[in-house]
Amino acid sequence: MDLGLTAKKAIVLGGSRGIGRATAALLLQEGASVALCARGVAGVDAAVSELSVSGSVVGASVDLADSDATSAFVVKAIEQLGGLDILIHNASGFGVEPDRESWQRAFAVDVMAGVAAVDTALPALKDSADGSITFVGSMASKYHFGRPASAYGPMKAAMRTYANELAQNYGSDGIRANVVSPGAVWFPGGSWDQRKQENPKFYQAVERSIPLGRLGSAEEIAQIIVFSASPAGRWLNSTHLVADGGQVAAVD
Ligand SMILES: NC(=O)c1ccc[n+]([C@@H]2O[C@H](COP(=O)([O-])OP(=O)(O)OC[C@H]3O[C@@H](n4cnc5c(N)ncnc54)[C@H](OP(=O)(O)O)[C@@H]3O)[C@@H](O)[C@H]2O)c1
Repeated sequence: MDLGLTAKKAIVLGGSRGIGRATAALLLQEGASVALCARGVAGVDAAVSELSVSGSVVGASVDLADSDATSAFVVKAIEQLGGLDILIHNASGFGVEPDRESWQRAFAVDVMAGVAAVDTALPALKDSADGSITFVGSMASKYHFGRPASAYGPMKAAMRTYANELAQNYGSDGIRANVVSPGAVWFPGGSWDQRKQENPKFYQAVERSIPLGRLGSAEEIAQIIVFSASPAGRWLNSTHLVADGGQVAAVD
């Protein structure tokens, strides 16, 4: 199947490692050009230099907790790409602690960076024949994983409602909005890799809880993100795509 990504232009917020980087890599392989950002300069430089063998990619160091910096990045990225078809907000403030600072960080990164990026990108997305917005969510938006009450799930849930707001308001401009929610995903150096090393028994219990017997990979999640964002996924709109290998044993 042709995803229709040749010559498309994409922004990945939080694209220097893990799911975001795998998403940027796949977009490039499929013929899109990509602008990515992350906070760490070394990570951005490494991603840009390694991914540039597959296509046209630019990157910048940006803290998405700063809405003005997020907007400035999006403006520059659209200029560098020469337009925009696909906006993907992948980064999270991982607000899993119960304190208020954690709530503020999660609100700033998970929610407000998405709002700032969308506001800034809308004119360019309206000019696209295939405009799409994808938020990377989490199964924590619908399921309680036994952690102390915290911002992580509620912020991810907010983005599902926001995606619906966008889908309903901007469908007439040809812009779609969806959320892809991964379950537990393992990749080298990622949060589940850390848990695997620190608490192998817990990690093995999580593996056993997933019907497929293992955690997902960043590449598997990227395939779902890229499909839903691509012209081939154009009838997905205001959709919550669960990508957890059956980890959450529920129907909806
Ligand atoms: N991994 C999982 O098992 C899992 C499960 C469910 C949902 N998710 C969701 O999937 C998404 C990606 O997860 P991941 O595990 O791949 O994350 P990760 O390994 O922590 O990578 C996140 C990326 O975003 C960047 N980033 C983080 N905070 C940022 C900020 N304030 N400003 C700019 N860039 C920022 C990071 O680079 P810097 O640190 O250099 O900024 C990195 O490039 C998140 O939304 C997460 O909630 C992941």
